Amino acid sequence: MIELYRTVFVSKTVGVVGQTTLSIAQILGAAERNNRRDHVTGVMLFHDGRVLQAVEGRRADLDRLLTRVRDDPRHTEMCILATIPIQTRRFETPMAMCGLSSASVERTLNGRTLCELSAPEAENMLASCIVAPAAAA
Ligand SMILES: Cc1cc2nc3c(=O)[nH]c(=O)nc-3n(C[C@H](O)[C@H](O)[C@H](O)COP(=O)(O)O)c2cc1C
Repeated sequence: MIELYRTVFVSKTVGVVGQTTLSIAQILGAAERNNRRDHVTGVMLFHDGRVLQAVEGRRADLDRLLTRVRDDPRHTEMCILATIPIQTRRFETPMAMCGLSSASVERTLNGRTLCELSAPEAENMLASCIVAPAAAA
């Protein structure tokens, strides 16, 4: 049986990343292509200058992905909330977008930053708000 893992991380976006359709489409485009190839699935949420993302897949594929993403100048200060082994995937497409309203995110945060969420809180928030797979973006 293939061992699967889920990694949840937060980082600070640089410039207009996450605030323009183009910048989001560029990230989703690469994610769609590479994650599909590597059998990685996930979801991401941009909020208030930060991005929260969950990715699921085999450990080696996640390690390669995170090495690539960590070096990406479109964001900084990456903090990993958790990497845990999982029985089943929670996210089904190569990279979905979370469409939660800013107000809903703020309610969950309750004064905290995304980086201060617990991993289960972050995952639950991401699972509650998937709007479209990357292919449709
Ligand atoms: C916040 C953020 C999240 C990203 N997520 C992914 C991802 O899930 N999958 C992926 O392949 N690239 C992702 N990228 C892009 C990678 O950093 C990198 O640019 C890309 O994988 C390079 O792919 P390419 O060599 O096919 O162009 C992300 C970038 C940022 C800034």
